[in-house]
Amino acid sequence: MIPPVIVTHPLAQIHLTTIRSTDTPCGQFRWHLHRLAEILFMEATRGLGTETVRIQTPLTETEGVALARPIVLVPILRAGLGLQEAILPLVPEATVAHVGIARDEETALPVPYYAKLPAILPEADVFLLDPMLATGGSACSAVTQLKAAGATRITLICVVSCPPGLQAFADQHPDVPVVTAAVDEGLNERCYIVPGLGDAGDRCFGT
Ligand code: URA
Repeated sequence: MIPPVIVTHPLAQIHLTTIRSTDTPCGQFRWHLHRLAEILFMEATRGLGTETVRIQTPLTETEGVALARPIVLVPILRAGLGLQEAILPLVPEATVAHVGIARDEETALPVPYYAKLPAILPEADVFLLDPMLATGGSACSAVTQLKAAGATRITLICVVSCPPGLQAFADQHPDVPVVTAAVDEGLNERCYIVPGLGDAGDRCFGT
C-alpha cells in the first residue's frame, strides 16, 4: 500500500483538533475546516505540472509558470462541499464536478445517486474531496466513476482517514494518492471513524 501523505503541519493539526471537539459550534467548525482544507490542498498540489510562460513585467520581459493542465475538483456530496468551498478560491479557474454518494446507514455501503462529470477529465488533474475516509466505500465508488469517465490523474483529499479505509482504497485504487491530516485508530460498529469528528456533513452544515 502506498502510504498516505499525512499533513503534520502544526497549523493543520490545530485546525483538526478544533473541528474534532464537540465544543466547536457549526460556524467555527466550518471556518477551521476551510483553513485545514487550504493546507491539505497546498500539499496535494505540490507536484502539479507547470509550463513556462513568457510575461512582461512593468520593467522587462521574463519567464513565469502556468499550470500545465486544468484542475477539476470533485466534492462527494454532501460533506465534500465543505472542502470545495475553501479550495475553489485557491484555483478559481477550476471546474467543479459533483458526485452524489449516500451511505446506507444499515449496511454502510455506498449508494451512488448523482454524477455530473466534465469532458475534460482525461487531461485534468482531478482532486476528489471527502472529509472522512471511513470504510473507503464512497471514495472507491467515486474513483471508479471518475476513471470510467477518463480521469487518469486523481488525488484523494480527506481530513480524517483510518487503516481499514486506507487499505480498502489502496486495494481498489493503488494508483491514487491520499492526502490526509490524520490516520485515526479505526471504525466503531456504525462505521464511524474513532476518535474522528462525528458526521462531517452534519457538523459542517448544522443538520
Ligand atoms: N462519515 C462521517 O461523516 N464521519 C465518519 O466518522 C464516517 C463517515
